[in-house]
Amino acid sequence: MLRLMTAGESHGKGLVTIIDNFPSGVKIDENFINEKLSLRQSGYGRGARQKIETDKIEFISGVRGGFTTGSPISFFIKNRDYENWKDRMDVCKPVPEDIKIHIPRPGHADFAGSIKYNLDDIRNVLERSSARETASRVAAGAICELLLTEFGIRFSSAVLSIGGIGAGAYDKDDVNRIDYRNGCAYDNNGAGRRIDFSGRTISDADDAAALSIDLFDDEILLNIRNSDLRMPFPEQEQKVKTFIDELKKEGDTVGGIILVQVKNVPIGLGSFTQWDEKLDAHIAMSIMSIQAMKSVEIGAGIRAGYMRGSDFQDSIYCSSSTGIKNCSDEEITRKKYYRKTDNAGGIEGGMSNGEIISVKCAMKPIPTLMKPYLDTVNLLTCEQEKAFLERSDICAVPAASTVCESALAFTICLFFLEKFGGDSIAEIKRNYEGYIGQVFNEK
Ligand SMILES: Cc1cc2nc3c(=O)[nH]c(=O)nc-3n(C[C@H](O)[C@H](O)[C@H](O)COP(=O)(O)O)c2cc1C
Repeated sequence: MLRLMTAGESHGKGLVTIIDNFPSGVKIDENFINEKLSLRQSGYGRGARQKIETDKIEFISGVRGGFTTGSPISFFIKNRDYENWKDRMDVCKPVPEDIKIHIPRPGHADFAGSIKYNLDDIRNVLERSSARETASRVAAGAICELLLTEFGIRFSSAVLSIGGIGAGAYDKDDVNRIDYRNGCAYDNNGAGRRIDFSGRTISDADDAAALSIDLFDDEILLNIRNSDLRMPFPEQEQKVKTFIDELKKEGDTVGGIILVQVKNVPIGLGSFTQWDEKLDAHIAMSIMSIQAMKSVEIGAGIRAGYMRGSDFQDSIYCSSSTGIKNCSDEEITRKKYYRKTDNAGGIEGGMSNGEIISVKCAMKPIPTLMKPYLDTVNLLTCEQEKAFLERSDICAVPAASTVCESALAFTICLFFLEKFGGDSIAEIKRNYEGYIGQVFNEK
């Protein structure tokens, strides 16, 4: 089984990652991996730390002559900031009392972690629980993507909204009046004005966004690439930036909604036969394990609870009788059955059904605040204190979208290898072609 282990502290020497049971013969493109790492570091609203780090992958094992060898892959990502932390992070020297942290920040692992592990310095918790760890997962996801690309499987991700500004956001006080079919809410005055979370009238572009977005559409892909916020609709970008600037002045933070998609996944990854073999369950775990993620929706997600069966279920069509919509020639050869809607988000009965797998994730606001808004307790003295720190991200939703994409890539790769398993890419390709022949034939 494909396995991923990560180790390393935020201000230690660096991150160590091991990927086990990865097949041989996969071409490794370091530029592709490093580009993903740099995407994880980018985005409007990030803190000063990202100016110090320039993450680069350094393979230690499992890759030779540009191809994976089948042995465990291990790699190192250096923390450049370590130079500034050498003394405080020293492996042997005793930690001076005056630099120990006793005040847990609400919203972090600080409180439960220091009690659970019986630690008298919260730094031992925050160093490892930090989202610095996601650099490992992004590089690992990129390696998985390199394998899946050989089978035409493609990933894309975008930020739909930040702090309620953007596509498909809704008024928090008016959830009963959300029109999920049209992806919007109505204001309390009953005037039928469509509004977003901040009370702003929803534009036509928002409407289009709130309905199903195809993150593989050429224009949308270009917009995401050109956006500092990885948002698919440029007209929203400036509003969000202004909002982030305001938050910066106030020392506050914000979260947002991310959409991740993967297309050309063959029918039948995952299984209905056992609870822990379901693809959707594993996707949920991989996303929820990312720092600050608070919800995962597959397809229509929460909207499903508001819909009728006749609207929700995705009717099935066959290309030989009806012709295929929205498919390139290359895809048509791989796609016999199709749907006109994708409320199931590409997964039925715990298995991929051949449609785009769509995952929507909610990221909570960054918990470290730059002003002392939050109450906490000094665990040494039991005195009431205020929690705050001076250097942190204000908004890391764009970066997190890359992390979510990587987490999805790992899970799809895990299930792909379960289905087509083999020790080399050549063996996997034989298994894959055999199965695809069975699906498209020709039974
Ligand atoms: C890409 C990314 C960057 C983050 N940057 C910060 C940050 O600068 N400051 C912070 O307090 N939390 C940051 N977080 C969130 C915390 O790591 C996270 O909220 C915390 O570890 C507690 O975990 P939980 O929110 O999953 O419960 C970031 C998360 C991600 C995914």
